[in-house]
Amino acid sequence: MQKTVLVAGSHGTIGRAIIDTLRCQGYHVISISRHGDPSDEHLCVDMTDQGNVKRITGFLTPHISTLYGVIQCAGVLHNQTYQPEKNLMQLDEAWLHESMRINVLPSVVLAQALSPLLNRKSSVRWISLSAKVGSIEDNGLGGWYSYRMSKAALNMFIKNLAIEWGRKSPESSVIAMHPGTTPSDLSEPFTKNWPKEKLYYPEMTASRIVSLFTSMTASDSGQLYHHDHSVIPW
Ligand SMILES: NC(=O)c1ccc[n+]([C@@H]2O[C@H](COP(=O)([O-])OP(=O)(O)OC[C@H]3O[C@@H](n4cnc5c(N)ncnc54)[C@H](OP(=O)(O)O)[C@@H]3O)[C@@H](O)[C@H]2O)c1
Repeated sequence: MQKTVLVAGSHGTIGRAIIDTLRCQGYHVISISRHGDPSDEHLCVDMTDQGNVKRITGFLTPHISTLYGVIQCAGVLHNQTYQPEKNLMQLDEAWLHESMRINVLPSVVLAQALSPLLNRKSSVRWISLSAKVGSIEDNGLGGWYSYRMSKAALNMFIKNLAIEWGRKSPESSVIAMHPGTTPSDLSEPFTKNWPKEKLYYPEMTASRIVSLFTSMTASDSGQLYHHDHSVIPW
């Protein structure tokens, strides 16, 4: 039977590349985004709104028997008004809230939608795209307060979810992953002076994510992975 993978945040650069890679490898892809035409295979919804949990559960229910896993890609680093902070005094309450909303809530809302469909026999794999700069232990440079703080919060959510689903559904696995610096709307202002050898095309990034996704097991659960598949300390 064809395996189904849910790609959430499917309109983003990395999300789109993941979908192409999964389809090339023969997976059946369903998706969630704020954009696109609704269908049985695509839900158009804002995953930062907890009021949408039931709609997402309803969308997932017909696919649950073939659901192989979830790759959650939504996240934000800057917008037209706010850039990553260079120092403490640039930290703005509104942007901190917005960063928390977009970097944390999509994983929470999606997990709340999927959780009622899981049982002890379920074997579902889950990746939330996080960032190396969300690692507290790895932080040697400082700055980027709101992005770092919100990805650190996402990382803690993933650790908690791995523990809870490890009890509820021991065959399942839940991880966070740093995808590597990839040209996209999110990274565009920061890649101009970035070393070319450390800038990865979306296709390369997607193939690394999908290869970790297809090889991960329950014993890998509850960790933050680098795109080279090594473990980054939380
Ligand atoms: N690119 C990099 O170099 C890099 C490095 C480290 C980590 N990451 C992480 O990788 C993930 C994907 O990044 P990307 O480069 O593909 O970025 P992107 O092209 O800007 O895509 C961002 C995604 O976030 C969602 N999103 C953005 N603003 C939102 C808002 N206001 N409300 C709800 N959802 C919103 C979008 O979902 P829709 O589908 O609804 O539009 C989209 O899927 C992010 O979590 C990012 O933090 C990226």
